[in-house]
Amino acid sequence: MFKGRFRKEEKKQRRAAVVSVGKYMPPHILTNFDLEKMVDTSNQWILERTGIKKRHIVKNGLRQSDLALRASQEALARVGWSPMDLDMIVVGTVTPDHIFPSSANTLAGKLGAIGVPSWDVLAACSGFMYSLYQGMVTVESGRADKALVVGSEVMSSIVDWTDRSTCVLFGDGASVLLLEATYEPYGIIDMEIGSDGRHLKLLHMPGGGSAHPATHETVNNKEHFLHMEGQETFKLAVRKMLLVAKTLLERNHVNPEELGLFIGHQANLRIIDAVTKRLNLKPDQIFNNIERYGNTTSATIPSCVYEAEMMGRIKKGDWILLVSFGAGLTWAGALIKWGIDPLPVLGADAMADDSVSDTYSDRLKPGRDWQKQ
Ligand code: ACO
Repeated sequence: MFKGRFRKEEKKQRRAAVVSVGKYMPPHILTNFDLEKMVDTSNQWILERTGIKKRHIVKNGLRQSDLALRASQEALARVGWSPMDLDMIVVGTVTPDHIFPSSANTLAGKLGAIGVPSWDVLAACSGFMYSLYQGMVTVESGRADKALVVGSEVMSSIVDWTDRSTCVLFGDGASVLLLEATYEPYGIIDMEIGSDGRHLKLLHMPGGGSAHPATHETVNNKEHFLHMEGQETFKLAVRKMLLVAKTLLERNHVNPEELGLFIGHQANLRIIDAVTKRLNLKPDQIFNNIERYGNTTSATIPSCVYEAEMMGRIKKGDWILLVSFGAGLTWAGALIKWGIDPLPVLGADAMADDSVSDTYSDRLKPGRDWQKQ
């Protein structure tokens, strides 16, 4: 369904603009006090060292694709698009329902986006931002007019719940942005993206891939869980996020004080503090939600965009800077000129339940007769 349209005659620059946002966090909450009963930790340690108070965790068979589905449905409903209006779906995740088919294929099927190209991006905590990059370049090129970009994770499925150094950090959730082509002077103005594969082992999951397929031994050795060297990752995160932020601001002649909002990957409040202090940002220029959700890996940045927009912290004409860092190592940043009026807030509707869905939603009927395609 790629459009293949190139509009070279256009004088104005074609950009990808954010036109809607959606979010879904599973209803079950795990607090620091709950964790005190599971591992040798304390609410005080977690709060002081990370800024996290609680996280949302899936229950009752809720899958990563279900979280993505609900967030996507909300974003589509807020602009009145049908899933069949989409030209591409890209999902950043390290916790797909299955290794294959992809999460994006699963999501497309559940949405009823039949025939729409869909694929996953594996870039850990930068998964959403790498997906955003793909959405941006595809829309800018004219190959797509409308893109669904998703960050969705069930981190609770790869966390060792006996390892206090990691299990207190992560949560589950999904958030999405919808992109649309525009010739107006707003949208994603610039992105910076990079990786450094020399540090693979700082943050990785040793088992489950073709190097170490699942065996009794890999399970006994806990190789199917996330492993992290926290301190070293912390230092590199601060360094890289700062570099990405400065590069984007300088390249686009935007002063830090002109920023409407800075949103950094929600891995640790101390990382974000270190970066934003070095940029001399004021508190009202920074948005965080790590306190309530922990690190939802690829879902952190779009969930902050969602909440900031909802709370009126992002306004038309604002400069927004998004910066991620994660396993790989990977990093990415996006400088966005926000171009839309406040989005409609949907009522507390049936999308807020936590039931498992196996088919496309009949709440949002596709605009076209997709069954005949
Ligand atoms: N409760 C109580 N004590 C703990 C806990 C806990 N949950 N976890 C560790 N400790 C102890 C350690 O055992 C250690 O004790 P010791 O001094 O007796 O040896 C002490 O606390 C300090 O441990 P550190 O690991 O040095 O703690 P630190 O201050 O570095 O915080 C943390 C750890 C939160 C993991 C931090 O290093 C961090 O945030 N790192 C970066 C995470 C990140 O950015 N990840 C990238 C994105 S994630 C992704 O891509 C999937």
